[in-house]
Amino acid sequence: MPNKILITREIPDKGMALLENFDTKVLGEGVPERSELLEAVEGVSAVLSTVTEKMDAEVMDAAGEDLKVIANMAVGYDNVDVDAATERNIVVANTPGVLDETTADTAFMLLLAAARRLGEGERMLRAGKWDAWGPKQLIGPDVFGKKLGIVGFGRIGQAVAKRARGFGMGIFYNARSRKKDAEKELDARRLDLDELLRECDFVSVHTPLSDETHHLVGERELSLMKPEAVLVNTSRGPVVDEAALADALESKRIFAAGLDVYEEEPSVHPRLLELENVVLAPHIGSASIETRGKMAELAAKNIAAVLRGETPPNPVNPEAL
Ligand code: NAP
Ligand code: GLV
Repeated sequence: MPNKILITREIPDKGMALLENFDTKVLGEGVPERSELLEAVEGVSAVLSTVTEKMDAEVMDAAGEDLKVIANMAVGYDNVDVDAATERNIVVANTPGVLDETTADTAFMLLLAAARRLGEGERMLRAGKWDAWGPKQLIGPDVFGKKLGIVGFGRIGQAVAKRARGFGMGIFYNARSRKKDAEKELDARRLDLDELLRECDFVSVHTPLSDETHHLVGERELSLMKPEAVLVNTSRGPVVDEAALADALESKRIFAAGLDVYEEEPSVHPRLLELENVVLAPHIGSASIETRGKMAELAAKNIAAVLRGETPPNPVNPEAL
């Protein structure tokens, strides 16, 4: 019996090409209904999932004992219950490294757009409300030469720092461990989170979502930021307390925010939708043609390796191998 692979969403051709010798089933372009996922997973040996599917014990049990690997087409894998997978000897894999530059570009795009009020200006122009150039119209803080605080200084956080150097920014970071090589290479200084929030003009969040990072930036943390500061979040929605952020933006406690991720995707906190001083992107951090192709390829390679009895390139729980 050939190994059956369930692919939960249509993925770029580059990924599909690597799986052409397997028996694959693709559920569709959109997010599958939970009931559809539970039915389709029955009897498969591998699942290629995305961030929109909750891969929990129920799904694993619905698959049955043939399931050997869940390859998430994302670097973040908070949608997968890794402990449940390990207990069942199911390998979980992700796609680190190939999306760093693209996601860092997205963070920098949001940082610039939020500071320079691009969303607000575009809305005004499209509504036919732009009557003339104005000396005080849509002015925001400069980015060049300011201080950037990076929370989570891993692959993507460091790629953001590289861009910031081109903007003459001072680079500060917070992470659980010190990154001496990156400090040297990027002229970066480690601060504790409170110091970083007090000191920096821009704060960009790049941690994974975990119990430790849930609401890492909440009401107290926002209250430490400068009134002219800008917050950017391209990590995961629940790392920032959205209601507290809406309060801080509404009361002009901080100047602006740029968000790519939300606590309850695809819902966005209704007050954020009403505010002018927040730029909202629909989770497009890694959405370049090249990078999505590479992510699909890497997810496919992770599956193919496990099904051939080889070590996959990016296991999250190698103990399940
Ligand atoms: P990474 O290389 O593992 O870096 C994560 C960093 O976060 C590390 O420096 C880590 O510090 C730090 N960290 C972890 N827990 C922390 C805490 N409690 N306080 C402070 N720092 C903490 O991960 P990455 O590849 O850069 O990806 C980061 C995240 O970005 C992913 O997990 C994903 O959720 C998100 N992402 C989003 C998009 C998007 O489309 N918006 C795209 C790609 C990734 P230590 O090294 O000291 O542990
Ligand atoms: C996307 O959000 C990812 O984690 O790769």
